[in-house]
Amino acid sequence: MKNTLGAALTLTLFGESHGPYIGAVIDGLAPGLDVNEEDVRHALDMRRPSGKISTKRREPDNFTVTSGVFRGKTTGTPLCIIIKNENAISGDYEYGPARPGHADYTAHVKYHGFEDFRGGGHFSGRVTAAIVAVCAIVRSALKKKGVYVGTHISNLCSIRDRGFADPIADIELLYNRQFPTLMEEAEEQMKSAAERCAELGDSLGGVLETVIVGVPAGAGEPFFGTFEGEMAKAVFSVPAVKGVSFGLGFDFANVFGSEANDELHYENGEVVFDKNNNGGVNGGITNGAPILFKTVIKPTPSIFKPQKTVDFVKEETIIHTIRGRHDPMIVHRAAAVVDALAAFTVADILTVRYGDDWLYSE
Ligand SMILES: Cc1cc2nc3c(=O)[nH]c(=O)nc-3n(C[C@H](O)[C@H](O)[C@H](O)COP(=O)(O)O)c2cc1C
Repeated sequence: MKNTLGAALTLTLFGESHGPYIGAVIDGLAPGLDVNEEDVRHALDMRRPSGKISTKRREPDNFTVTSGVFRGKTTGTPLCIIIKNENAISGDYEYGPARPGHADYTAHVKYHGFEDFRGGGHFSGRVTAAIVAVCAIVRSALKKKGVYVGTHISNLCSIRDRGFADPIADIELLYNRQFPTLMEEAEEQMKSAAERCAELGDSLGGVLETVIVGVPAGAGEPFFGTFEGEMAKAVFSVPAVKGVSFGLGFDFANVFGSEANDELHYENGEVVFDKNNNGGVNGGITNGAPILFKTVIKPTPSIFKPQKTVDFVKEETIIHTIRGRHDPMIVHRAAAVVDALAAFTVADILTVRYGDDWLYSE
């Protein structure tokens, strides 16, 4: 399906960057889940642009829960949140010149010229605010079930953050970090690299690392509904994501089987893995270890340097310099979106396994 994700739980997304509203609907949520608007506000704050390394388009993200909630709890019927777009400058966008790396040209081909191109339209990072808003409710419900999700910036160019050490403590540490690194030095270095790059009119990409703790062994539907496949599908829907890998990922190519394998043993009757190179998944099924995956976010396509492209209205090759307000890097803001979709997907997979009311706890 095009703008709907999920099986037992579904997430449907709508809206455009410069339309009146963006929004999302989650269907299949168990009744009785707490809906705390503060959680939604906090999640939106984590995604909100700030400082010199983010777009100057600052939206207050005023949202309304339009359905699916009664007396502060989910009803079990479709839950919809809409968010007003209040700070759009549509005059900055011209129809015809295709920004290299953006979806202007591909959207034009697919939608035959009827697409709302203002601010990137449906392909704008702006639309991801609605994902973050509805998934905040799922994330809180997961927490009550002992399932925690967190994402940090693993590296920006050659500047590295430390990896997860004590995942639950690290997730707690990341909770209020709008620039989600585990080490403050990494934040300072990454921000100053991004600021230098922005002064040159250019942009930077980076790698996010996500951990999900508390997922029981046995979830995932091989062959075609594997845990990795479903998660990757969700994460690949985030604009600017160009790769997702689990555990050692592409580094599996550089080690022997004897290093790659995660040895296991019994400890007080429980199966325990000595290490977690497989990112918590074997055969597409969770093994009970923390889920670990990485996501690469490309540099923001809209940069302020002249570039060769096409004007698909005039049908000519041009040298184009863009206008508008853009993020010199997307990585830190995308972390909140990856967290949101990771929470949604794990809740969906666990609802498939344990039934419609699984997410509800007394
Ligand atoms: C939170 C977020 C903010 C983004 N901000 C911008 C932006 O300011 N300028 C831009 O050109 N792209 C931005 N993007 C990325 C584009 O939407 C994306 O690169 C484009 O739709 C093309 O899709 P693709 O990169 O997945 O191929 C942002 C993405 C996200 C997730």
